[in-house]
Amino acid sequence: MSATARKTAPLPDDIRAMKGTTPIVSLTAYTTPMARMMDGPCDVVLVGDSVGMVLHGLPSTLGVTMEMMILHGQAVARGLKTAMMVIDMPFGTYEESPAQAFRNAARLMAETGATAVKLEGGVHMAETIGFLVARGVPVMAHVGLTPQAINTLGGYKVQGRAAAAEPLLADARAVADAGAFAVVLEKVPATLADRITGEVPIPTIGIGASAGCDGQILVVDDMLGLFTDFRPKFVKRYATLGEEGEAAIRAYAEDVRARRFPGPEHVFSDKVPGA
Ligand code: KIV
Repeated sequence: MSATARKTAPLPDDIRAMKGTTPIVSLTAYTTPMARMMDGPCDVVLVGDSVGMVLHGLPSTLGVTMEMMILHGQAVARGLKTAMMVIDMPFGTYEESPAQAFRNAARLMAETGATAVKLEGGVHMAETIGFLVARGVPVMAHVGLTPQAINTLGGYKVQGRAAAAEPLLADARAVADAGAFAVVLEKVPATLADRITGEVPIPTIGIGASAGCDGQILVVDDMLGLFTDFRPKFVKRYATLGEEGEAAIRAYAEDVRARRFPGPEHVFSDKVPGA
């Protein structure tokens, strides 16, 4: 079903059923106004842990906390009616054991109303994914470049080239077998992303992957061009709000200094209304 025709948010099984038929549209959101803009056009809205870098100026996603995710998750939930909300599990809140993952996933879902959680990792997270799904927590998996592992991956590099292709395919298979309803493929060569999409039974959602994936996701601030100094190859800029915002702030500053703002239309008279 098209997102605009929907009256209620899709469930994980609805997203799973879109594999190979209808491309899944997804963006990240961190605030109510952004979520409102996406509700309708998007099938899935992800409260990504990218919030740490995008809104809080952190150098990576490693410093993101449960409290940050819950606060932004609650804000996003207020803006959504027809898109499914997925929330990222922050670094250090799920890797230790399936029980730790369940405790924190349940808290994220209970306190934000998210339908599902997303966590990073392939083969080594399969047991945890199975544990969560069996206990009522739908899981979106995330393989390829997993930003919470930048210190072991050696930075934000493309994953799965040459000999690394088979292990990445094994990661995608493992999360699907464990019960994930979809898998994000981040920074994966297009041919490998197409192969994974053809071989795993759950939808693949690409970011820096391939147009052949079952869906696409981008960080909303990137696609709106809110950053003037950050232009990764995999991001298509659909607007240049960063440049426009800077120009607007400069114009405001000039107006205030020249006493051009506020104008007569922006101030109040002393006339009592109705008198
Ligand atoms: O945190 C995030 O924004 C993500 C992406 C898939 C975009 O995980």
